[in-house]
Amino acid sequence: MIRFEDIGLRYGTGPEVLRGINFTLTPGSFHFLTGASGAGKSSLMRLMYVGLRPTRGCITLFDRDVATLKRDDLPALRRQIGVVFQNFRLLDHLSALDNVALPLRMAGIAESEIREHVAELLGWVGLGDHLDARPPTLSGGQQQRIAIARSVIARPRLLLADEPTGNVDDSIGMRLLYLFEELYKLGTTVVIATHNEGLISRFGHPRLHLDQGTLAVVPAGTRMAVGPITPPALPAALAGPIPPPVLPAALAGIVGPVLRSPPGSNPNGES
Ligand SMILES: Nc1ncnc2c1ncn2[C@@H]1O[C@H](COP(=O)(O)OP(=O)(O)OP(=O)(O)O)[C@@H](O)[C@H]1O
Ligand SMILES: [Mg+2]
Repeated sequence: MIRFEDIGLRYGTGPEVLRGINFTLTPGSFHFLTGASGAGKSSLMRLMYVGLRPTRGCITLFDRDVATLKRDDLPALRRQIGVVFQNFRLLDHLSALDNVALPLRMAGIAESEIREHVAELLGWVGLGDHLDARPPTLSGGQQQRIAIARSVIARPRLLLADEPTGNVDDSIGMRLLYLFEELYKLGTTVVIATHNEGLISRFGHPRLHLDQGTLAVVPAGTRMAVGPITPPALPAALAGPIPPPVLPAALAGIVGPVLRSPPGSNPNGES
């Protein structure tokens, strides 16, 4: 399905943010993608949907060498990939329903079927009352669920989700992961970038783990070592006691006594 051979990636003239990446995802597999913030998860995702080309190495996607793909080949290829972007990338001028309907319209599905399918899925992710809402009027978690519904609605061959549960509570997160799990059972190859160790441990899937630009494939059920947590030293500006604010002269007389009162005393002098 996907093979990365000795892949390196740098942005412009910057340092290599991914280096010596090797892995193969077989069709119908499910992997979590983990690593600290800045480790390269979104960059790896971009390479997988050919939003970026690597600066070295060979990527094979759907049995095609990505280096030989032309710009005109990309739309057809991407129609087989469902993507949940970290920043959602919804179309703000379209309703929730029309955003989710896009992949079905591109696949030529009859309009008569689209509304029913989309409404059912949006209802399932808890947005049945927001079918006609435009994304800017919705919360981050609601927008994220529209992005997820859009990514799965056309049953893609490959599903790439970048922190798809980052803006929702654990119970909705669990529900969304069941959606991906269902797609996986139907044969889709799934990769989900996440920081949520709780969700990872509930679903027994291997992980691709990034550490300082290099990747290791970690079997399911392996507990990742977490070092001791020592509180970091705060920047000087934040350390030490917080000085009382200097009040504008007009207010100083009114609230001054309250600020100066020792703890426990009654600032109003009432008994
Ligand atoms: N467009 C860009 N231009 C230059 N550098 C970039 C760009 N995008 C990412 N980087 C750099 O690449 C490295 C990996 O970033 P990336 O966004 O892939 O990390 P991430 O693992 O997805 O982080 P997070 O968990 O915070 O989403 C970082 O050092 C980042 O500064
Ligand atoms: Mg990211």
